[in-house]
Amino acid sequence: MTPAPDPALIARAAAVLKAGGLVAFPTETVYGLGALAESPAAVRAIFAAKGRPADHPVIVHVADASALDDWAIDIPPAARMLASAFWPGPLTLVLKRSHRAHELITGGQTTVGLRCPAHPWARALLAATGAAVAAPSANSFGRISPTAAQHVRDDLGQKPRGKIDLILDGGPCPVGIESTIVDLSGAGSRDGPRLLRPGAITRARLEQVLGVPVPDAGSVAPRASGRLASHYAPRTPLELVDADQLAARVAALRGTRLALLAPADLVLPAGSDHVLTHETAPDDAENYGRRLYAALHRLDAAGADRILVLRPPPGADWLAVHDRLRRAAHPG
Ligand code: TXA
Ligand code: MG
Repeated sequence: MTPAPDPALIARAAAVLKAGGLVAFPTETVYGLGALAESPAAVRAIFAAKGRPADHPVIVHVADASALDDWAIDIPPAARMLASAFWPGPLTLVLKRSHRAHELITGGQTTVGLRCPAHPWARALLAATGAAVAAPSANSFGRISPTAAQHVRDDLGQKPRGKIDLILDGGPCPVGIESTIVDLSGAGSRDGPRLLRPGAITRARLEQVLGVPVPDAGSVAPRASGRLASHYAPRTPLELVDADQLAARVAALRGTRLALLAPADLVLPAGSDHVLTHETAPDDAENYGRRLYAALHRLDAAGADRILVLRPPPGADWLAVHDRLRRAAHPG
């Protein structure tokens, strides 16, 4: 699924970054909107393109774990354990920032988020640039994250008509939802590791490596835009429906146009012509996560009045999917 990185394109992208420009690039989770992390002007351009408030921190993408010491201080052993277990991979570590992490990177906080991505295009780009790359997801603020280059073209777009200097196309993202974020900064009264955002690296895997519990961050946690109530949201109102309620809900909403995300074997009640489209939901969490945002992008474009999503099963493996669906759900 992932094509080999094109060396000429990677060289061009690295040149754009080094000149202070913006490059959208694939990671294993979602597409990132990258800029040279050490250039405040370049990072400011990310915020402008996304329409994102300046007090939201951005993740710094690094080539390997040796960069921890460049960007962070007071690094606890747990951070190195997690980096050696899961980097390169879909895990972001929040640590106390070093002087290198300027205000725009940290959103004015005393911490910095660091991630070493595994996607071959992201790795090639970091190697060719020879510097850290700051990158939030490559979507307009508050919208669904992109898991394909076309999502980025449709939303932010490439210059001269769009906002990004260069959009790299490395195929669909294999994980499909944003990285797990663990806070190891010990900020405030908290000392142990805290889960700021669930992702493909599950709590169980973190706890297995660390040998201590990794509870959710409490309300004193640092700001993270992914923790806003309505985030990752389609424009169309989205409603989560329990399996045993779905047929009744579809029937009750006759007279409106519906788009569904539900398992393939769903049987709709008779007279369901108002269901414009039915995206089939995979029955395992990994595939569901991989396909979720692409499905939401399509459902959002279907011209429906409402998106109904059959609530996936409970269970620890589904934590990240439930988290993203909860944020996507809004009454309009
Ligand atoms: O998988 C990912 O993490 C993707 C790819 C591109 O790497 N990036 C991503 O970035 O999801 P973004 O900006 O859309 O979400 C990053 C989240 C935000 O919720 C941000 O507030 C949080 O990470 N974050 C970044 N630095 C932080 C910090 N120092 N403290 C707390 N949260 C931080
Ligand atoms: Mg985002």
